[in-house]
Amino acid sequence: MSKKLLFNLFAVLMLTSLILSACGTPAAAPAAAPAASAKKEYKDMTLCYPQLGAESDWRTANTASFKETAKELGVNLVFSDAQQKQENQISAMRACIQQGVDVIALPPVVEDGWDAVLQEAKDAEIPVIIVDRSVSADKSMYVSHIGSDMVLEGKKAGEEMNKLLPNGGNVLEISGTTGSGAATGRAKGFRETLNKNITILDSQTGNFNPTEAKPVAEAFLKKYAGKIDGFFIHNDGMAQAVVEAMKSAGVKPGEIKMVSVDGTRGGFQMMIDGWVQADVECNPLLGPQVMEMALKLMNGEKIDAEVLTNETTYYPDKAAELLPTRKY
Ligand code: AHR
Repeated sequence: MSKKLLFNLFAVLMLTSLILSACGTPAAAPAAAPAASAKKEYKDMTLCYPQLGAESDWRTANTASFKETAKELGVNLVFSDAQQKQENQISAMRACIQQGVDVIALPPVVEDGWDAVLQEAKDAEIPVIIVDRSVSADKSMYVSHIGSDMVLEGKKAGEEMNKLLPNGGNVLEISGTTGSGAATGRAKGFRETLNKNITILDSQTGNFNPTEAKPVAEAFLKKYAGKIDGFFIHNDGMAQAVVEAMKSAGVKPGEIKMVSVDGTRGGFQMMIDGWVQADVECNPLLGPQVMEMALKLMNGEKIDAEVLTNETTYYPDKAAELLPTRKY
């Protein structure tokens, strides 16, 4: 082999080794696959509950249900009281979004006006469960609604009034918060079911609040004296105010038929005392269901888009027996 050939062979070998080394270092051992993320537990959950207010015994029981369940399960509950103001609920939701909570459970004071803040929660990838009353926003803006069928409650109330006034008559309505899903639904269901021989003489809001309902009841009793056969009252707290007004006006228990909603202890007492003839149940004890759903969401599990509470109607005949068992 000539010297030149030997030199060329050496050069080729050198070049090849240079190219190979430039192609990079030998591949490192593949990184371990990321460990499957551990299943979330209640103690990992921060749940935001911007409560709408404290207008009734129902609401007090609803708040207690969330606070007690959170304590029991070890959930970190971010609770606030919006004092019936939608803008306060929206501010509280924004603070929760900023804080990066895991889930927001919203009991909306009214139906309209939630689109912007629901979009903000969606953008921040925080799921929102609508609790108790409904919202008018598109269903794609929230993950689920847990609460009562308010139209059905109104229908049940209408059926009770039909039974109480088989020959027809005049009724008055004191409704809940104007624009709320609860008031709108109950009013709608009531009207859809009421017999044609029953006339709604008048309807005013009492804002689900006994203090606001009392002057409405007093004015009704004065204006329609001698013409009133029945009252449809959207909650027990306001019905208690109506009872006070009837007592002052000299009306005797049962003289004017009354159908109320909620099934609180106060409602049971009014049935025992003969003032209320039927109390349509609306269950406020939603804390356990909501937190269970929130945990499922945190673990990427499937949830139902609508969970309606199973409810009944209570009557005076069983009121005394059931009163001691009532949780709210
Ligand atoms: O949204 C539920 C209603 O709100 C209850 O019937 C009433 O008592 C409460 O204030």
